Amino acid sequence: MEITSIISLISLILFPTSILLLFNRRRNSAFRSRFPPGPPGWPIIGNLLDLGSMPHRTLTDLKKKYGDILGLKLGSLNTMVILSAKAASELFKNHDLAFAERSLTITMRVHGYDRGSLALAPYGSYWRVMRRLVTVDMLVNKKINETVSIRRKCIDDMLRWIGEESKKGDQVELARFVFLMVTNLIGNLMLSRDLVDPASKEGSVFFKAIHGLMGASGYANIADYLPWLKWFDPQGLERTMERELGKALEIADQFVKERIKEKKLGDIQNKNFLDVLLEFEGNGKDEPERISDKDLNIFILEIFMAGAETTSSTIEWAMTELLRNPIAMQKAKAELNNVIGPDKKVEETDIESLPYLQAVVKETFRLHPPIPFLVPRRAMQDTKFMGFHIPENTQVLVNAWAIGRDEDVWSDPLSFEPERFIGSKVDYRGQHFELIPFGAGRRMCAGVSLAHRVLHLTLGSLLYHFDWEFEANVSSTTLDMRDKLGITMRKLEPLLVVPKKSHLSF
Ligand code: HEM
Repeated sequence: MEITSIISLISLILFPTSILLLFNRRRNSAFRSRFPPGPPGWPIIGNLLDLGSMPHRTLTDLKKKYGDILGLKLGSLNTMVILSAKAASELFKNHDLAFAERSLTITMRVHGYDRGSLALAPYGSYWRVMRRLVTVDMLVNKKINETVSIRRKCIDDMLRWIGEESKKGDQVELARFVFLMVTNLIGNLMLSRDLVDPASKEGSVFFKAIHGLMGASGYANIADYLPWLKWFDPQGLERTMERELGKALEIADQFVKERIKEKKLGDIQNKNFLDVLLEFEGNGKDEPERISDKDLNIFILEIFMAGAETTSSTIEWAMTELLRNPIAMQKAKAELNNVIGPDKKVEETDIESLPYLQAVVKETFRLHPPIPFLVPRRAMQDTKFMGFHIPENTQVLVNAWAIGRDEDVWSDPLSFEPERFIGSKVDYRGQHFELIPFGAGRRMCAGVSLAHRVLHLTLGSLLYHFDWEFEANVSSTTLDMRDKLGITMRKLEPLLVVPKKSHLSF
């Protein structure tokens, strides 16, 4: 979210008015009386300027003054921000249904994306059908087991790419390799094809379109907060989205048509996710008879967008933290060497025997949740929440970044200490509200089981097969740790590292 550019834009548009209104900044007492407390807003723009360029951090700082639940007015949008594990627990345990709708932005509605998307669909029958297809027919553990060889191949390809680089002794941008690997992995699970393959022209055009699409959706749009600006599309985001999404949907459509043709010819070996959707037959009453072509195309894009950035940014942060904490790095590598033994490969069945690696992933999620505000929710009706009145349509942001630093539940919250999870039952599957990188409740991430395997397999393999060093002139104390908020929260400066091969077995 490029909030800085928004702030300049707001200033430009509102400067003359804001001078006049300068002395008018006060609380709207009727609005505030039962709404959660927060900084007083400006007329028209409300608290937009209070977000700063790093809203996950700025809003965390406001907790000291206003408490666990913050009330904001972002332009015309009432917003509640959850800042503690206690408030998150209350929200997900006792009010999940009341906040099960999504809060949508203008770019999410382009080409009717929100209506075909599972992540953004209204809480209702279409969402229920898609959610069931994903969690039961695609990503239940038994189904995930059936595709273990696909993950193996994609990980091996990634290790080979990095191995080639390591021969040159050059530094690599780690997140890029992981992103390409996950793109191919999802390409194979969804469509039975590598998308990052120099031989596939369609694949690389699709890959570029998705990249453009994700770029456009990572920006905050001033027109979401000041709806009268919608018609001007001042940042051009709606137009960019229309163009990029249009391109990506067109290619997804070609993939679907090719698959239908192959199926007719009986020319397929293994069922993929797309086949599950193509074969769906609903009852035509409270569920559609079939998934429309457009919704199929949207769903394909959605899975790429949900999985690729999140996974690559988590691995980038995990490696960054390990390089900054050499003892943790040593422990993780020693565990892998002991459990895997010499010259083998890390397999998914090893994950259970690697508690330190699991602790490293949890600790990375605690400090660097890839989607720091989760996917925004919306109040379906007027709701009483922890003594406050939350009006219908209030946007709900759960600040997982703040919750990972909540001093009431985490001791020494700013230090990276995987050991805190050894012997602890806390995990990220939506039952422990102090660690919610995948959210919780009805709208929790549908891909958590797959993500769990891919993350451990990737990080474990990278640590087992290579020794990692900083690029020249960088050390654990000088490493740039700043983050930036786009579609996910990434490192501002990509991590550049030098891989040295240690185990040669790939
Ligand atoms: C590191 C990896 C990932 C992270 C951190 C992550 C995180 C999230 C979060 C925070 C949400 C919103 C939860 C909420 O509102 O409470 C979400 C939703 C979702 N995720 Fe993930 N995700 C990851 C990987 C994946 C993968 C690999 C897939 C699919 C293969 C996926 C599919 C989805 C879907 C479909 C939803 C929407 C669920 C709904 O609205 O019902 N995610 N994810």
